[in-house]
Amino acid sequence: MSPPRVFVTRKLPGDALERLRARTRMEVWEGELPPPREALLSRSREAEGLLTLLTDRVDAALLEAAPSLRALSNMAAGVDNIDLSACTARGIPVGHTPFVLTETTADFAFALLLAAARRIVEADAFARSGRWRTWQPALLLGRDVHGATLGIAGMGAIGRAVARRAAGFGMRLLYSSRSPHPEEEAALGAMAVDKRTLLRESDFLSLHLPLTAETRHYLGAAEMAQMKPTAVLINTSRGAVVDQPALVEALRRGRPAFAALDVTDPEPPSADEPLLRLPNLLLAPHLGSASYATRARMASLAVDNLLAALEGRPLPHCANPQAAR
Ligand code: DGY
Repeated sequence: MSPPRVFVTRKLPGDALERLRARTRMEVWEGELPPPREALLSRSREAEGLLTLLTDRVDAALLEAAPSLRALSNMAAGVDNIDLSACTARGIPVGHTPFVLTETTADFAFALLLAAARRIVEADAFARSGRWRTWQPALLLGRDVHGATLGIAGMGAIGRAVARRAAGFGMRLLYSSRSPHPEEEAALGAMAVDKRTLLRESDFLSLHLPLTAETRHYLGAAEMAQMKPTAVLINTSRGAVVDQPALVEALRRGRPAFAALDVTDPEPPSADEPLLRLPNLLLAPHLGSASYATRARMASLAVDNLLAALEGRPLPHCANPQAAR
């Protein structure tokens, strides 16, 4: 039997693709940008396996164009780019890469929090600009992190990892989650609250929700109006968890006072996106998991998932276990 045909939608860091190449007939999209839709459809036509990124839309139309497809592996924890029910209906297991990126993403969320609180980006620009003439009592004053209240929306692995960091910084911790987290309550003093309390009491609000039909626009105009006027919003989850036009208006009004975003809706934002012109915004290009080690681990797990699915073994991390026949 000849090795299965697979299509990988981008070059990946580390050497994981060498393992895939050894056991499959692998084609890799060499472009720096994702394959355009037509190219994705045509390359999928004969593929038995696809290794995708969060920038590739895998929907019913793609599945239809790929009659031989029997394994899908997404190099991301999130699977909101994939129509999971359509894959399940076709019996296609979908691998994803949670947990290997937990600590790295939590580091980045906390980096955004600290940078926003202490105005690091502005400080750097100021210090290089020639405007730094002396020590000034009221220069670039920021907000204290210690003693402030951090609200965490979504206490999955990343939310909990952010909570551990915040406890080390002496922050008061509130969280809202579908399930209680007695361990974090006992060890870190975290307190479960309803969404309203989370919005009203947080000095910093960090979003760690997967994007689903229920969490889309979790934060809209009505929710932002309940936040403190001094609050800082941090989003390292998915852009569409926040209603972006509402966020633009809210930031213009100064409630929340500041937003530090690693994600937007869409990505990248268009050149005329009003968000980009707001002074009370810090924006990163979706870098939460972007450390050398973590991206190599994600690539390796994505390959493990794909090979397992192609070889009929249980996937290390499967987003739709019910697809297994
Ligand atoms: C994910 O994995 O879902 C992140 O957004 C990218 O690392």
